[in-house]
Amino acid sequence: MAALAPLAKRLNQIKSFHVMALLDRAKQLESQGRDVIHLEVGEPDFPSPDNVVQAGIRAMNAGQMRYTAPTGLPELKRAIADFYQARYGVALDWHRVVVTPGASGAISLVTALLFNPGDGVLLADPGYPCNDNFLHLLGAQPQRVATGPESHYQLTAAQVRQHWRDNTRGAWVASPSNPTGTLLSLTELGAIQAEVDARGGALLVDEIYHGLTYGLEAETALALPDLNDSLFVINSFSKYFNMTGWRLGWLVAPERYIEPLDRMAQNFFLAPPTVAQHAALEAFSPQSIAIYEQRREILHQRRDFLVRELPALGIRLRCVPQGAFYLYCDVSAITNDSFAFCGQVLEQTGVAITPGIDFGDHEANHHVRIAYTADLVRLAQAVARLRDFIARGGA
Ligand SMILES: Cc1ncc(COP(=O)(O)O)c(C=O)c1O
Repeated sequence: MAALAPLAKRLNQIKSFHVMALLDRAKQLESQGRDVIHLEVGEPDFPSPDNVVQAGIRAMNAGQMRYTAPTGLPELKRAIADFYQARYGVALDWHRVVVTPGASGAISLVTALLFNPGDGVLLADPGYPCNDNFLHLLGAQPQRVATGPESHYQLTAAQVRQHWRDNTRGAWVASPSNPTGTLLSLTELGAIQAEVDARGGALLVDEIYHGLTYGLEAETALALPDLNDSLFVINSFSKYFNMTGWRLGWLVAPERYIEPLDRMAQNFFLAPPTVAQHAALEAFSPQSIAIYEQRREILHQRRDFLVRELPALGIRLRCVPQGAFYLYCDVSAITNDSFAFCGQVLEQTGVAITPGIDFGDHEANHHVRIAYTADLVRLAQAVARLRDFIARGGA
């Protein structure tokens, strides 16, 4: 038999998420007729608004199926820039917008743009795990820094100063964050930027959960003066705009990087998805924004419900998250093995949640992520099931 081609070594570093095993088990249970409440997924449970879908259908019917420019339709870039003006009062030159296949496309472009093999990038632990893997793909090194409730699980300027090493080339934050739902204020972002700038590094700010904040508006890093031309903002149509499957996001980069980004987009993606771009234009219409804002209010109510109910079960929130649709919960009173805990919860209650070990190492076995991507009725059922489970001793 012919020898099989070996996998590239980098694959050793790219691990599957633990939650995938739980998801498989959840599917098995469902096929046996068990009712599973899915609070593990990182995607809104709302469909794309009908007017957005219709815009996509109209584009298809009009034959809009060819490649667009590699960094996207100019009219979509303009619409994105206008959105920054309308929502944040930030004037943004639309030429600085690069439309990408999801925020994931933006992340692969910006990391390839900036980092060489051996370079390090500071990130918060816990954080979005895929970021590490984008860096591994380049032979670069995620340098995770343990964060806790005292800094609302966000990297601080002091930590950037303290943990910057000889090979560090940048810092990468997310506001609101996955898995913690916590924000960085513009002041905190500015302080981090000052540390990064002083060391000649780049600052990457993931704003994919913007729009999903409760009782306040997130501040965009684009409101900061970008003195060193080293600020990159990542965003997407996936979360606030409820368009996960359309695969569309964007990157805002300093002007001098647009040409190399265009060159990479030409080579790696050719173009972002055309139909999705036409649909996304409709996502900024007043009609769509009204729908998104109603949905934001629904998420707000769900968050408040869980924040009220969970502590009585021994599921602690060490700070109340103001954004995204996640609660990063301290379950140290119940377990010190987050994966085993999530497995037992699934088996015995049919509630699917994500173990903290999917988001880093720091106190990861004492945490779980609960996504409030189900309606209030289902959330109340989930709470009741968890209450029974924990009252029975959690096993
Ligand atoms: C923090 C963060 N960044 C980026 C992404 C990628 O999103 P997408 O590629 O769907 O835009 C996600 C998805 O969950 C995320 O949570």
